[in-house]
Amino acid sequence: MKAIILCAGRGTRLQPLTFSHAKHLIPIANKPVMFYGLEAIIEAGIQEVGLVVGENRSDFVQEVGHGERWGIHISYIVQEEPKGLAHAAKTAQSFVGDEPFVMYLGDNIFQHGLKEAVKLYRAYQPQAMTLLYEVDDPRAYGVAELDQDRVLRVVEKPKEPKSNWALTGAYIFDPLVFEIIDQLQPSWRGEYEITDAIQGLIERGAQVRPYFVRGWWVDTGNADDMLQANRLILRQIESSIAADAQIDPHSEIVGDIILGPGAQIVNSTVRGPAIIGRESRLEDSFIGPFTSIGAQVQIQHSEIEHSIILDGCTIRNIDGRIEDSVFGRNITLLRDDHRPKVHKFLLADNSQVRLV
Ligand code: G1P
Repeated sequence: MKAIILCAGRGTRLQPLTFSHAKHLIPIANKPVMFYGLEAIIEAGIQEVGLVVGENRSDFVQEVGHGERWGIHISYIVQEEPKGLAHAAKTAQSFVGDEPFVMYLGDNIFQHGLKEAVKLYRAYQPQAMTLLYEVDDPRAYGVAELDQDRVLRVVEKPKEPKSNWALTGAYIFDPLVFEIIDQLQPSWRGEYEITDAIQGLIERGAQVRPYFVRGWWVDTGNADDMLQANRLILRQIESSIAADAQIDPHSEIVGDIILGPGAQIVNSTVRGPAIIGRESRLEDSFIGPFTSIGAQVQIQHSEIEHSIILDGCTIRNIDGRIEDSVFGRNITLLRDDHRPKVHKFLLADNSQVRLV
């Protein structure tokens, strides 16, 4: 069995972060989002993976490579235009060939990965399997109507959902799906929907089975979802302090923290779960639970909690606690005591700053 990971979406809901980075490569708990999916696929025993990418193919090649790091093989498939998930799948048809395949949306993370779903697919060999998750408000998702172990109907973003079972971003198909995709019409949002392809399979009499996801699932489409994923992942970490990391005697560490090589904690309190990347330095600061700090970040006289701070940022002398925040790379945020007291900003398009 092969797998395709869809990474071509533009990530408009994550602007401005996605102006400079592919959304699927933004780190959560200091690891690019799509690595979680890739590792789940590998854990399920799949070794041939196709990444469907868009215009930033070279960013992926640089960061993910061809799979050497994991001992698998990764191919790149370019989707020239973002015309929907079914279109992305179709682009990968020749890579997939004539065997069943996992299709995985690269911004999704499942607590328990895909192992069990792949095992059940292999046992029952239906034409399709959809991974479903029960949500309170399914209107933003594809929604499945079920009869025990059969999916009877799927509808994309229904106004009046008939169940609370959302389609998550993982599916297993056999190649019959490509025949159905060939006959699809674009939806109201102008996309070839994978949900419509699944419905087409059902109407053809194909067997579509549900798989009910255990544990948590997140689709990291916007900043709040990223913070939620960060929290859920950090909740599972175990402490690990690099041999050459330094914690001075005036600092206090509480709970689980991961401290990268060369990181320094000086006269500060870190309350885990938290991760602090390579060569970052905290001084006279407080880092609260559920905070991920990337590599080479400098934090002085500041307090940060429940946030994601990417590589190369400098944060200094900030009054009040920074909370629920996402900082891209190389951001400088500092307060100086010069008069006149003015705010001075250099912000990218669609940045959001809230001052109180
Ligand atoms: C896509 C699918 C939808 C599914 C969701 C899961 O939605 O079309 O059926 O429920 O992913 O994340 P989109 O993110 O394109 O709105």
